[in-house]
This record gives sequence, structure tokens and C-alpha cells, in this order.
Amino acid sequence: MSEAQRRGDAVRLRVDIVTIFPAYFNGPLDVSLIGKAAARGDIEFAVHDLRRWARDAHRTVDDMPFGGGPGMVMKPDVWGDALDDIAGAGPATLVVPTPSGLPFSQELAARYAAQPRLVFACGRYEGIDGRVVEAMRARMPTDEISIGDYVLAGGEAAALVITEAVARLLPGVLGNASSAGDDSFGGAAGAAGGPRYMCGLVEGPVYTRPRSWRGHEVPGVLLSGDHAAIARWRRDMALRRTAAYRPDLIRALRDLDPRDQQVLAEAGFPAAGDGPGAPPARFPVGGEDMAH
Ligand code: ADE
Repeated sequence: MSEAQRRGDAVRLRVDIVTIFPAYFNGPLDVSLIGKAAARGDIEFAVHDLRRWARDAHRTVDDMPFGGGPGMVMKPDVWGDALDDIAGAGPATLVVPTPSGLPFSQELAARYAAQPRLVFACGRYEGIDGRVVEAMRARMPTDEISIGDYVLAGGEAAALVITEAVARLLPGVLGNASSAGDDSFGGAAGAAGGPRYMCGLVEGPVYTRPRSWRGHEVPGVLLSGDHAAIARWRRDMALRRTAAYRPDLIRALRDLDPRDQQVLAEAGFPAAGDGPGAPPARFPVGGEDMAH
């Protein structure tokens, strides 16, 4: 029993993971922020071997696809029985990782962090028979989620990614309560108390001691103690890096002030409201050339 459970505190998030590779989760859930949150009882995990619900001596979980084509499809009867047993009790959201799902985002992570329970159905092979999601949708909130435009061998890595993004948003999980709001996309997620200057942007570079390392200096403004200047510089750097790596996010920005527009113009972006931004010709993303 965890310390929190001994104190009688409620678990904030219960996570059930159904997989044919339970061993995949040995380790990652025990270390770092997630491990500490689990040890405190803020988050509780249960990993279930899908083959427990298989019906034959070979514990078969897949079959050939109707309509032909390569690969195998995971059987609806096995998944149906597993999810009846696991997701049946109490309110929960079913998350089915798949490359053909809704893109995962910080906003979704924040929404999941407010739920009492998440159930991950990790598919392998060509995926899970489509009727499983259809049937589950009629019973509980069910999201098919992609973590990016690439194809993994199964949903396990995606379930870990989503779990980590959600767990660090649980109250008390991050050491510094304001750091979630400072992150890339943090402002967009509306984290309480987080600075708004990072809203919709990816974060710029960060620095620690020593001040001088291999001839590279920490930008002087960060040593100035001038908090307004530091916040402005951080926003400038975030704008520059976002323009370089994520021009799609720049086009979605609203309420740009004159300094923002100047920074973006220097980066080769047209003024806000001029339509789609052109890709920047050259875009330094480090901090070295921002003299202060
Ligand atoms: N399973 C395989 N590829 C995936 C992806 N990109 N996102 C989520 N689940 C997946």
C-alpha cells in the first residue's frame, strides 16, 4: 500500500493497460515522475495480459483479415471480453492508440489528467477489429489516438507516451507547480499560474552553470535579474524556434504585439494577417546571436 493510500487519500488517476506484451511495462512505470507518483498513490497502474481472455489452447488473439491483405487483425471476441472485465466497473475513458487516430496533444493530456480512469487497449499487427471501438463507443468515451505520423509496431510505446504526458499534469506530480505552464504548449493548455508568454509556442533554449562553457556564453539578459526583460527574451526565442520548427503553430497565433511581429519579420515571416507564412530563409534557433 502506498503512503497516500495509508493516509486515506484517493488515487487521482487509475490507468489500466491491456497488451499482449505486459513485460513492456516492467520498468518504465516504476521510475522518474510516474514511479514517484505511483509510489505516493497519486496514480495507480494495472497491466493486463490480453491472452488471459483468449479462448483456445494456443491463446490466439489474431486472425486473417476479411477482404484480404497483409498481416493479421486482432480478434473482437477476445478484446470484447477483456474490455468487459476491465472497463466495466466505474467511469473510464478508453484510449486506443493507433496511427490512424486523432493526433495527441497537450490539450488532450490535460483533459485526460482530469479523468478518474484511463484504459489503454494496445493493438499489435494490423490493428484491432473495427467493431471493438464501435461497440465500446456505445458504452463509454472511446478515443482512437495517434502520437505522430509514423507507424510503431504496436500501441504500447504510445500508451507510455500518453501516460507520461498525463501523469506529469496531475496536481503535485511536478516538483515546481508552475513548470507545466512554462513548457512548450503549456500556456495553450491553460495551466493554472503558468506564464502566458509561451502560449501556443515551443520553448526556446535553457541554460545553467557554468556561465561560460567551451567559449559559449549564457545570454547576458538571463543574468540581469530584470524579469520583464527575461520574459520578453524568452518569448522572442520561443517565437524564433517555433518559426523554425513549427511554422504551422505560428500561423495559428493571435494577438501578436509589435515586438512579436518584428521578431517574426526578422525570421522571414510576413506580418500577421497576411495569409500563410512563407518558410523562413534562414533561421538561427540557438541563443548565441541574441546580443544583450
Ligand atoms: N500504433 C502504431 N503506430 C502508432 C502511432 N503513431 N500512434 C499511436 N499508436 C500507434
